[in-house]
Amino acid sequence: MDAAERVRAIVAAHRAERGALLPVLHAVQAEFSCVDQEIVPLLAAELNLSRAEVHGVVSFYADFRAEPAGRTTVRLCRAEACQSVGAERLVAHAEQVLGIKLGQTTADGEVTLQQVFCLGNCALGPAAQVNGRLYGHLDPARLDTVLATETAAR
Ligand code: FES
Repeated sequence: MDAAERVRAIVAAHRAERGALLPVLHAVQAEFSCVDQEIVPLLAAELNLSRAEVHGVVSFYADFRAEPAGRTTVRLCRAEACQSVGAERLVAHAEQVLGIKLGQTTADGEVTLQQVFCLGNCALGPAAQVNGRLYGHLDPARLDTVLATETAAR
């Protein structure tokens, strides 16, 4: 089955749902690991929406990626409680050591860096989620250790 057929099958599975676009986008990302720009016109046609509508939803939700994510995903919390204990310093450090900005993936496809607004771990800030695992009380040195451990495990 080629990519277009796989996308059509996903749409068919969700077409009857109210607000089918969001579940379709989640399913597309689960299947292809991103929502490629080239898929947008096909999704729009299949769901009878404009390309702008589909594109608007994809770019509004931070969960959707236009490119495949790296093998390791780092989500740094930037909400208030974590900000008050050094989240911004952590963001700056991560951007510097990885050589990328928030929302980007390293050129070798190793790490994707994302921001998130509260991981429910506020008492243990600054907090981050790396490959789905929650970490707290992070500082630059501890983040380096977490990154080394998590990337080595991939
Ligand atoms: S504010 Fe960072 S985990 Fe809640």
